Amino acid sequence: MLNLSEKRVLVTGVSSAIGAEIAQTILKLGGTVVGTYRSSDSVLLEQLSTQGGFESFHWDVFTEPHFLEGQQAFDAWVHCIGVIHPQPIKYLNKEGSEALFQVNYFSATRMASLLMKQNLLLPKASIVFLSSVSSQYPYRGGAAYASSKAALETFAKALALELSTKQIRVNTLVCGLVRSPMFDASKAPYSAAEIESMEARYPLGIGTPSDVAKPCAFLLSDYAAWISGAQLLLDGGLMLNV
Ligand SMILES: NC(=O)c1ccc[n+]([C@@H]2O[C@H](COP(=O)([O-])OP(=O)(O)OC[C@H]3O[C@@H](n4cnc5c(N)ncnc54)[C@H](OP(=O)(O)O)[C@@H]3O)[C@@H](O)[C@H]2O)c1
Repeated sequence: MLNLSEKRVLVTGVSSAIGAEIAQTILKLGGTVVGTYRSSDSVLLEQLSTQGGFESFHWDVFTEPHFLEGQQAFDAWVHCIGVIHPQPIKYLNKEGSEALFQVNYFSATRMASLLMKQNLLLPKASIVFLSSVSSQYPYRGGAAYASSKAALETFAKALALELSTKQIRVNTLVCGLVRSPMFDASKAPYSAAEIESMEARYPLGIGTPSDVAKPCAFLLSDYAAWISGAQLLLDGGLMLNV
């Protein structure tokens, strides 16, 4: 069994469906979690807050991450923050493009440099970013989302190079559709029949947050000590049908 005991993990976006499951999995495997959320009325956050080894701080990415002040260095960081905001390119507005990039991409680049400047990453730390298969196979209405994830994937590789001198590893989980509020939002431009045929393209079915949290735990663990700069495809076999 994987063991994350003595690992103190920063999970940015712990109120997301996937982020909350990742936090639960880390706690189950003996680690501790410092999480960030934007909306305090999340049921997932409430459930996590009842558990030992978990603490959380408010951080909206459009503000300074003051919660970093006084923190001890982390053994790992998982960045789960993301928005989807589907819009056809013809009607792309600031919220659908620039604000989306701030949330999906610049939140990660800003946090990475702050963690480095403030020496908040221990040697041999593990960093995991959440990306989407749409970075390679974009969909109608998802131009900005897919582009932001493609940028994030390339940033992860550059970060992996720069942090390799400290034996810090950086990897990306490239996910297909996972049942969550984001999944519900992504369905908006499609008819029921289109959604059914989209789901049918997943040989193993649409994913669950747990299907992402378990491989994430592996990447955080010492079992993945020689894996850096990788993009782990989590898609229930979707690419077999491309
Ligand atoms: N679900 C999928 O099908 C899927 C597929 C591929 C990749 N992913 C990626 O996996 C990650 C998690 O996805 P999910 O499905 O769990 O998403 P989700 O449930 O929709 O959660 C989105 C998260 O982003 C946070 N967030 C949004 N805007 C923010 C802001 N301005 N400042 C701080 N936090 C902000 C939300 O915080 P609050 O809830 O506190 O407001 C929430 O924690 C995302 O990066 C997503 O792109 C998801």
